[in-house]
Amino acid sequence: MKMIDQTALPTRLAFVTYTRPEQIAEAIRNMVIRGAPAIGVAAAMGVALAAFRSKSKDRSELLKELERSASMIRSTRPTAVNLFWGIDRVLKVARSAKSAADVKEVVAKEVKKMEEDDIETNKRLGQIGSNLIENGDAVLTQCNAGALATVGYGTALGVVRAAVKQKKLVKVIVPETRPALQGARLTAYELETDGIDCTVIADTAVGHVLSIGRVDKVIVGADRITRDGYLFNKIGTYQMAVLADRHRVPFYTAAPFSSFDLSQTHEQVTIEERKFDEVVYVRGKRIVPRGVPIFNPAFDMTPPELVTAMVSDKGLIERPFEENIAKVIS
Ligand code: MRU
Repeated sequence: MKMIDQTALPTRLAFVTYTRPEQIAEAIRNMVIRGAPAIGVAAAMGVALAAFRSKSKDRSELLKELERSASMIRSTRPTAVNLFWGIDRVLKVARSAKSAADVKEVVAKEVKKMEEDDIETNKRLGQIGSNLIENGDAVLTQCNAGALATVGYGTALGVVRAAVKQKKLVKVIVPETRPALQGARLTAYELETDGIDCTVIADTAVGHVLSIGRVDKVIVGADRITRDGYLFNKIGTYQMAVLADRHRVPFYTAAPFSSFDLSQTHEQVTIEERKFDEVVYVRGKRIVPRGVPIFNPAFDMTPPELVTAMVSDKGLIERPFEENIAKVIS
């Protein structure tokens, strides 16, 4: 499996190739690959690599090997539901196969399809979301919900891309997104590469840009949307939603069906806490005194009352979310 090493951007566009499921698990954990839809497809490919490498000629033996790889990959990051969706989808087809050889074949076909579907899904979602964008809009986003966070095209940035394709002028305001700086490093890189107007701001400037009328719409991605309409996304999203509400700026999330968790409510979701060193060091330099405790949640939860509408590849989802998510995402 070949992927961009997202930790090297924007300094270097480097590719890495992995041949073992353990490497995929490590790449997800270390955010070499990141972003909910990208993680979902990578996780599925990790299981497919386990099938491809296995020497087992026995179907149930092979399935057990796949389950072991699946549970290793499941343990990498808990919040993005796409990771679990991707693994479950590939395991389901594996279980439906009649022999070990069939398992290998169907699994390989399935992950290829998932890869292709992801781009199609994002394009559809982008098209639907682009109706919300008016010519000249300034869009505030968070983190990176672009091509890098997916197989291609992006979710929140997919909406921007579709609007730009329709010749609408769109300016994107990109908070740096501490501590891993996905906004500054990745979103700015993508937009700059595509020639889309963007400005990077410090995370601490979000309230100010909203208060001085510099933002027309907020559009963020989603790592998980629960069936009761709660949005889990990159840390900083919740404060952005509160501030958007305060300044009467519409707040949208854009997410493919694989980011919707129809089986759980918000109380059941685990918010990932990452290592302290992401906060303590900036480019290898320590910025916090030794011995000071660090709390580093990677995601936060935005309640449904702060979300104006949800853009999905199956249509725009309006309030009441609980009822309409069930109707639209099935
Ligand atoms: O920790 P990350 O970089 O994997 O988090 C990514 C995000 O929070 C994105 O906003 C999210 O995956 C959006 S979906 C493209």
